[in-house]
Amino acid sequence: MNTNQPTSDLNYDVLIIGSGAAGLALALNLPSDTNIAVLSKSDLNEGSTWYAQGGIAAVMDDNDSVESHVTDTLRAGAGLCHKDSVEFTISHSTAAIKWLIDLGVDFTRRKDKGDYHLTREGGHSKRRIIHSADATGKAVHTTLLEKVSAAENITLYDHYIALDLVQQIDPASKKLRCAGAYVYNHRTDSVEAFTAKSVVLATGGASKVYLYSSNPDGASGDGIAMAWRAGCRIANMEFNQFHPTCLYHPKAKSFLITEAVRGEGGKLRLPNGERFMDNFHELGELAPRDVVARAIDHEMKRLGSDCIYLDISHKSPSFIASHFPTVQKECARYGIDITKEAIPVVPAAHYTCGGVVVDKNGQTDLQNLYAIGETSFTGLHGANRMASNSLLECIVFAQSAAKTISEKTQTILPLEAIPQWDESRVTNSDEDVVISHNWDELRRFMWDYVGIVRTQKRLERASHRIKLLQKEIHEYYSNCKVGNDLIELRNLAMVAELIIRSAMQRKESRGLHYSMDYPERAEIARDTIIVPTNFAAQDIIVHHG
Ligand code: FAD
Ligand code: SIN
Repeated sequence: MNTNQPTSDLNYDVLIIGSGAAGLALALNLPSDTNIAVLSKSDLNEGSTWYAQGGIAAVMDDNDSVESHVTDTLRAGAGLCHKDSVEFTISHSTAAIKWLIDLGVDFTRRKDKGDYHLTREGGHSKRRIIHSADATGKAVHTTLLEKVSAAENITLYDHYIALDLVQQIDPASKKLRCAGAYVYNHRTDSVEAFTAKSVVLATGGASKVYLYSSNPDGASGDGIAMAWRAGCRIANMEFNQFHPTCLYHPKAKSFLITEAVRGEGGKLRLPNGERFMDNFHELGELAPRDVVARAIDHEMKRLGSDCIYLDISHKSPSFIASHFPTVQKECARYGIDITKEAIPVVPAAHYTCGGVVVDKNGQTDLQNLYAIGETSFTGLHGANRMASNSLLECIVFAQSAAKTISEKTQTILPLEAIPQWDESRVTNSDEDVVISHNWDELRRFMWDYVGIVRTQKRLERASHRIKLLQKEIHEYYSNCKVGNDLIELRNLAMVAELIIRSAMQRKESRGLHYSMDYPERAEIARDTIIVPTNFAAQDIIVHHG
């Protein structure tokens, strides 16, 4: 789809695709003489970061230690975490939080002592979640965005949707390198070419591949799909995390009830008021997320119930108001007074544990292409991410990637101009219903067949359907002018295929992947690494030691 016209002035040292915690933290950690572009597919705050509630897990207390946080993370990850990656991340946790505090993030302090209040969440053996009431993401994002907006070397582009990466041969190494991206400008309805010496995928996760999700609409796995098409390996996509407690109300769209509610004593109850979590795990309500989500799913199916209930009403109204103001306000909008009654909740797709394979500097298999944050697979989360380890990963890997990128920028040889996007052979779609129909169909069969509990037969059904959908989407994409919905649908279908393929390869149950046909955990823990036919790595093999 290209002509050989050189393009304009969208030429940067570093192109960061994504303006969440990972992308913004990376931009702020690069030297101030680096010319940087940051893209966001919609409003600048419309990623998962903004909606993060519970907090950030880090070693912040004298009674805590790196070893303890590492042990809990490894346990939650069900034997599949890469220990070196876990140790790397957690040993940088205190410094990462200090960096955020120095930037001005207003974390909640204890009223009596004045030091930072640390809350608890599932899987953590200690209180170690630093937070800003129950709106941590908003506090972090606001501060990062304020600093990025003030930086003269960073240009922000909102409503710019990257659709594919551009590769060129590097004259020095004679290998393929990433040299930029084609980006759809929503406002002008046209595709522009950005060139950059380094490109960073910070596009968040893919949980919108499921019908019910806690994520904002843009979580369509764009970075994972783009990296895959560019020849990078993708790992462990079968481990999509379902958060146990999202508000159940016909009018509430994807509202999460933070795990910190359970951390502060909230109890899960059946419709008759009985507690049930002690029947499933010795940590009760604070068991790792996969266990809680499966227990809820089991009880809902057993009772034919639409939801179960989360009850914090035994705490004082002042405690609830100071710890959970966002949850309280949102529930009140639907007529639920959480100081007096239990909250109806259901599990929903929440976090993509797998992603683009990277090393500790965020380097992917393709030269000059990096991936950080939820898009990446660092080995930290294993088969089940422990609560609040994600924002931590965003900051730690943004910092390590920034260091590597800044060391390399000077040595990168000049790029060739990127040919302009050619739309001369495509037409406007007159059948947008194809997009909306396929979008709905995909998300529904992923929920029904590739959800919390799986079987080989359900996966085979899903595999059959995704092939048909992809054929249709491919035809549509080749013949029609691109737009936001089509770009996202193409990526969702790609990611769905990767999830199904990965799930079919895992012949065991581990962490977030539970198969009724293979209920046991295998003795040896193995990642599922899907290698594309155009595998870009050549002799770069990324491994975790
Ligand atoms: P995001 O914050 O999702 O940002 C993605 C960015 O990429 C956006 O700017 C988006 O516009 C952009 N983008 C995507 N595709 C394209 C494209 N094609 N072109 C251009 N731009 C693109 N984790 C914790 O650790 N603690 C918590 O308390 C917590 N609570 C959560 C609560 C909720 C409701 C949710 C949904 C998640 C929560 N998580 C939490 C998970 C955590 O918030 C995310 O994993 C993390 O914020 C991801 O950050 P990110 O920078 O990788 O991506
Ligand atoms: C929550 O607040 O429950 C979300 C925490 C997380 O996803 O890490």
